[in-house]
Amino acid sequence: MTCTIHLPDYPVLLGPLSETLPAWLQQKKYSRIFVIADANALAHWNNTALLPGTEMYVVPCPPASEHAGGAERLKNLDTCALIWNAMQQARLDRQALVVNLGGGVVGDMGGFCAATFKRGVDFIQIPTTLLAMTDAAIGGKLGIDFNGIKNALGVFRNPQAVFADPVFLETLPARELRSGFAEVIKHALIGDYELWEKIQKTTPEALSPGSMTADAWTEILEPSIAVKAQIVTLDPHEHGIRALLNFGHTVGHAVESYFLETDEPLTHGEAVAIGMVCEGLLSTETETILRIFGRRPMPESIFPKLWERMQHDKKNTSGAVRIAVPGTEPFSLQILELSREEAFRRLKLYDSFDSFEF
Ligand code: GLY
Repeated sequence: MTCTIHLPDYPVLLGPLSETLPAWLQQKKYSRIFVIADANALAHWNNTALLPGTEMYVVPCPPASEHAGGAERLKNLDTCALIWNAMQQARLDRQALVVNLGGGVVGDMGGFCAATFKRGVDFIQIPTTLLAMTDAAIGGKLGIDFNGIKNALGVFRNPQAVFADPVFLETLPARELRSGFAEVIKHALIGDYELWEKIQKTTPEALSPGSMTADAWTEILEPSIAVKAQIVTLDPHEHGIRALLNFGHTVGHAVESYFLETDEPLTHGEAVAIGMVCEGLLSTETETILRIFGRRPMPESIFPKLWERMQHDKKNTSGAVRIAVPGTEPFSLQILELSREEAFRRLKLYDSFDSFEF
């Protein structure tokens, strides 16, 4: 099954890469193709012949099963320097195409390198994780972490196309799949209640590798991508409604960056699931989210550190922590201001929910 979701400037082609990619490339005339690939995606995927580039930079991302959030540690200026260097060695000109094959880290960082190399060369995204297919690869946000702050440096620039092939989902460990599912939940809660109905019936077992067919994934991916596409089309540069995509992310980023510095890092989605519970505090949603994700114990001693991190969030003005939560209608945005006390109360409430710990 293939389908296309059209954004004003580029398509998202959903379906087997063997059908979508060669047909798209045939219509283009690029001087060279340079692939930036996630080592894991390459290791698990047996169709590398489809990759049109001979020049390649492989980002040595650790396997997600070994180290949750490990690839995030590579999303920095040092890795960019290695990528730009490889692009220069390959003598890329401005008529070249960069192909980013991998998860959110490779898409964000590879896109950033492409967007800044010689003032910008075209790039396409081939997301290989659920998170990247449904969220990171769409909407033109590119960037890297800096001085411990996530996505501190970056630009907006759209890809020429996004190719989402559910076959890659079979190569992901269950934890990685579940991580991406947090963004699917987010999209359903902010804009597609029919998708939310489907999610409520999803069991944690369904999110293990190989338990859903490519067509079943397409039925989830298509509406989820459509929500993201609709929002970034309405507000490409985040002056308004796009803030809705940050639902769960103010608390989520703080939790993610805190645990990244411990021996037990969380995946992005695990952190966003905690964030959605703390920010949304809606009972049925909380129940579903905790059923799928479990609960990470959250001792009060870490609350001040989380609060400090929440204040780095780009949405904050004059020290107040603002969170974006869904309103009562699909695609409606509510901005709430969280005081320190209220943030602590919500974190404590999260920690008190009766759910299995992970
Ligand atoms: N992932 C949030 C956004 O694209 O705006």
